[in-house]
Amino acid sequence: MMKGLTLTEILRLSPIIPVVSISEADEAPNLARALISGGIGILEITLRTDSALDAIRLTAMHEKEAVVGAGSVLSDEDLKRVIDAGAKFAVSPGATPSLLEAAKKMDFPLLPGVATASEIMVGLKYGYDSFKLYPAVHVGGIGALKSYAGPFQSVKFCPTGGIDAKNAKEFLSLENVVCVGGSWISPRRLVDAKEYDKISAIAKASLRSIQTDNNQKK
Ligand code: 3PG
Repeated sequence: MMKGLTLTEILRLSPIIPVVSISEADEAPNLARALISGGIGILEITLRTDSALDAIRLTAMHEKEAVVGAGSVLSDEDLKRVIDAGAKFAVSPGATPSLLEAAKKMDFPLLPGVATASEIMVGLKYGYDSFKLYPAVHVGGIGALKSYAGPFQSVKFCPTGGIDAKNAKEFLSLENVVCVGGSWISPRRLVDAKEYDKISAIAKASLRSIQTDNNQKK
């Protein structure tokens, strides 16, 4: 496999990672372009639709400016499938030792989901230092992230699950939060209706709303 970006590099590409579910694979490159024109050059296509793998494949093939990843990766088999489809990174809602090990062995960037201190410790043991806190708002949100900064000083998070235009900025203001993920940028309703201008507009407005003077702190 050709060496791509590392997980750390990927998480620094954009403060917001849109989480996308798409029913028409052919439309995925158009969606990626809409996000790019809204200022976001990365997207996570979840394996929640039958067309997800083709959507990843077509985006990787036709939209070279976009960094396309796969979400809702649940097993080693899913991981192999998304790598074959051309995903540049994978995101999982939780993490099994088997998945953590498989991604490390293949040197493939996996953002594993965690919700507890013990899960972070298992991830650290397998050599991971960046995690998706999931479902962020429901497993303690800002408070949990502030608490985890104590024992896990070198760990970075991409909280996802319940993040939106209103609370993204507060999450991003935390030292241990490198980016946030969420479906609010490209809601299924707008994706299905091919309302790409609206998606670009949400991306632009969201990026504007999280601007701070110290965005480059990490
Ligand atoms: C995910 O898979 O990361 C979540 O479904 C995204 O969560 P959200 O829909 O609350 O943004």
